[in-house]
Amino acid sequence: MSMVGKVVWQNGCMRTATEFSKLKQAAKRFGTPLYVYDERIAAERYQELVDSITYPKTEIHFAVKANANPRLLKLLRRLGADAETVSPGEIRLAKAAGFGAKQIAFTCANASPTDLDAVIRSGATPNADSLHQLEYLAKRLPKRRLLGVRINQGIAGGHHKHVMTGGPDSKFGIDPTQVPEAKRIVAKYGRRINGIHQHIGSNVLDPPLFAKAMRALLGTARQFEQLEYVDFGGGFGIPYRPGEPRLDMRKLGKLIDATMADFVLRAGYMPRLAFEPGRYLVAEAGTLMVSVTDHKVTPHKTFVGVDSGFNQLLRPAMYGSYHHIENASNPRGRKQKVTVAGNVCESGDVFAKDRPLAVAKIGDLLAIRTAGAYGETMASTYNARPLPKVAVVTESSQIVTG
Ligand code: LLP
Repeated sequence: MSMVGKVVWQNGCMRTATEFSKLKQAAKRFGTPLYVYDERIAAERYQELVDSITYPKTEIHFAVKANANPRLLKLLRRLGADAETVSPGEIRLAKAAGFGAKQIAFTCANASPTDLDAVIRSGATPNADSLHQLEYLAKRLPKRRLLGVRINQGIAGGHHKHVMTGGPDSKFGIDPTQVPEAKRIVAKYGRRINGIHQHIGSNVLDPPLFAKAMRALLGTARQFEQLEYVDFGGGFGIPYRPGEPRLDMRKLGKLIDATMADFVLRAGYMPRLAFEPGRYLVAEAGTLMVSVTDHKVTPHKTFVGVDSGFNQLLRPAMYGSYHHIENASNPRGRKQKVTVAGNVCESGDVFAKDRPLAVAKIGDLLAIRTAGAYGETMASTYNARPLPKVAVVTESSQIVTG
């Protein structure tokens, strides 16, 4: 997928001969189904994000749940990212990739005592998701460690109701009216709350909505004397469909800077500012390569069958998500309207419905795009299929096993 010079990556696809040849080489070397990640695209996205926000104490915590590939984790760490985790397993993966304990944040609803004890031992910084978690942590976390709390400001965004995490029906965080109680709880243990956190949802493409959510959380921040950090979570969206406009990161960066400047002026101090992007950094860096295994024409439809399924890329079946699909073996071929279906024994196992695709014959390689976030990490062994294989195109254009 990498090219010499700047990567030209638009709306989820890069139709260049060089790119297809890299994808095909990887698929031939390792076989399909195969996730292929391009380090250069993740690095560009990271740099773009960092360059867009000028607030001096900004931290980017990569959401490991989006993609836990060790090479991508190491790359983002080298570039300066910290890590955001939701389980002891993710903390282990982050540490294995070289993130120091202080670089790791942890936020998880309904975490068990075993989870919370593991977080305490790990050295990661927890954001309590409930008053119960807050008390558990305040009692046990060594005093020198920071303790945050997640707030639900009632603002939600995102591509599907399953991923909207703010609002009255959401299980996440405490209500801003519970802040005085939260403060009382930690005071019993001689502590104070050091940071506040929110995450409104995933794949948000609307800068003013982010700014609104920031202002709401910063309003709550005024209930605290001095916070070490405010963490606005992730959610930065990306285009999945050809022609879909990109999130204007420059504009968003300016809004973020202005919102923080206003807070600093009013509050009289400068907290650390954290974001937890997952999708934005890695979605476009990933392609799921599959092989065409069947071709079925019925009186109603033409099906192209492939050697993968929702056990390897769940997003279309789970959220109705669009992933652009290209025929890497015949990229410029005549387009035919087809339904691309997988090999799982359920009729919902469809990657694309009635979609124009360059004529695909059995054995062709299809590239399922923008699959670098919540693809491999949500894969399962349903139907007793193995997990997908992984290859990485390194920054120096080498194809290596992932
Ligand atoms: N921080 C917290 C607390 C989160 O819950 C999440 C995502 C993130 C950060 C990263 O969000 P991102 O920047 O990637 O939007 N499986 C779904 C997405 C679920 C997101 C869950 N939380 C999908 O495939 O669309």
